[in-house]
Amino acid sequence: MGGYPAEMQESIRHVEATRMHRMDETYPRMPIEERQRLLDDFHPDYIDERMRAIRVGVSKGQRMPLELADVIEGRPHIGPDFNLSEPRAETDVLIIGGGGAGASAALVAQESGARVILTTKLRFGDANTMMAQGGIQAADRPNDSPAIHYLDVIGGGHFTNDPDLVEALVRDAPLVIDWLERLGMMFDKEPDGTMVERHGGGTSRMRMHSARDYTGAEIMRTLRDEVHNREDQIRVVEFSPAVELVLDDHGHVSGAIVMNLELKAYFYIPAKAVVMATGGGGRLHFQGFPTTNHYGATADGVVMAYRTGAELGYLESMQYHPTGAAFPEQILGQLVTEKTRGLGAQPVNRAGDQFVYPLEPRDVEAAAFIRECQGRGNGIVTPTGQPGVWLDSPMIEMIHGPGTIAENLPAMVRQFSRFGIDMTKEPLLVYPTLHYQNGGVRLEADGSTRVPGLFIAGEVSGGVHGHNRLMGNSLLEVTVYGRRAGRSAAHYAQDAKLGQPSLAHVARWNEELNDVGVDTGVTSPILLPDYTRVT
Ligand code: FUM
Repeated sequence: MGGYPAEMQESIRHVEATRMHRMDETYPRMPIEERQRLLDDFHPDYIDERMRAIRVGVSKGQRMPLELADVIEGRPHIGPDFNLSEPRAETDVLIIGGGGAGASAALVAQESGARVILTTKLRFGDANTMMAQGGIQAADRPNDSPAIHYLDVIGGGHFTNDPDLVEALVRDAPLVIDWLERLGMMFDKEPDGTMVERHGGGTSRMRMHSARDYTGAEIMRTLRDEVHNREDQIRVVEFSPAVELVLDDHGHVSGAIVMNLELKAYFYIPAKAVVMATGGGGRLHFQGFPTTNHYGATADGVVMAYRTGAELGYLESMQYHPTGAAFPEQILGQLVTEKTRGLGAQPVNRAGDQFVYPLEPRDVEAAAFIRECQGRGNGIVTPTGQPGVWLDSPMIEMIHGPGTIAENLPAMVRQFSRFGIDMTKEPLLVYPTLHYQNGGVRLEADGSTRVPGLFIAGEVSGGVHGHNRLMGNSLLEVTVYGRRAGRSAAHYAQDAKLGQPSLAHVARWNEELNDVGVDTGVTSPILLPDYTRVT
């Protein structure tokens, strides 16, 4: 059953033939100048004709992938005459998004004294947090410190990160690990009870905390359980994505309009503050890339926040995770965690030669994979025409001993064994996959934005990671900024007085599109990807 076809097996023989030799060699890191040349020539962010500037709004001129620009310049679902006089419910803090950031925000907003409603597009927990595998970074060992973590984050982001946001991220990190553990998260531990901590790409210290290779699922389980524990104080509304924010006559956010997916009906939920925690936009499949993202990742929060006047930034930068599954086709683009390389698996070409250091920052590593396939013709091509390079997973057990893969990567073992591939004995075929939106809505370190009453947390935001995020800093970001935004929103709501709700900003948005003559033919947020459109 299944397994690799004969022509791919032929290449696997080369990988096996070079393995012992590669075990003894350390492939050098790439010099800085070569990194930049490689990015310029092969990273998707640097392909000019696949990017454009948006033409309307406060951040007009911001470059981004064509597919995202079309969605941001889309027309709203509802008109300015929508009836706001019959609200469905009412709350102090409305959280939009049911992933790690939304759940963290809900818990801390409630602890800070706010009434909370959390509304989510699909089920609570259908989010990228749930799908994150490798780990969460925090500097909590004697040989490490938030300052060293800070330097790694800034270096990984090519020194373009917002320093205040990075400072908040790394300072809160040990606290968040402690918080999650107290809520019941089962971290990987050494026999003596200390945390297992490993390297990720671009980290100078071992600070990656994990729960096997389903760290995100374990974080989401923990947070979701705790939200459910407080169901009398936090109301969760599923299958109800927000489609528009509502402002009052002073320009302060005063809730949102959500769509009941089952009834296809729109409802207004008034709120004194809103936390936008809708995640990223991987399901827009920029440049035709497959994605690791969950089904609802369609950049909704960026669209809604932008129409109210929130600034955008860093959206010219997307993260293509180097190791998406390239075979079999049924799991194309799904994540093969960086932890696999962290444990010693090397990237190898068709001839069995290693061509890059395994843990370069992600953008560099991904560009090296693309160069090996597209630029040098050294990739492996599957029977359906998908290129890829080998990730030599059997090395892991040669380095760390038998059983290491089953213990550390059980979900991955299962994933591939369903298709007749035994990753303890055979390498995995991988190719870059769209993983993360580095940019988004600009925010302050307390989660606030330039729009009063609008707070931001998680992947929908931009600035924390600069132009390249390091592994394990997104699970950290959702928890750190979810907590910060939840607390800030609750405090803001204590003194907020709602004025007359209005959709005048929707009218202004439509006018601006008309004035500039923009019509992308898209109604946004698009809410779900459209796989019926032929491009
Ligand atoms: O490779 C991974 O496990 C991904 C982690 C991340 O994006 O933080």
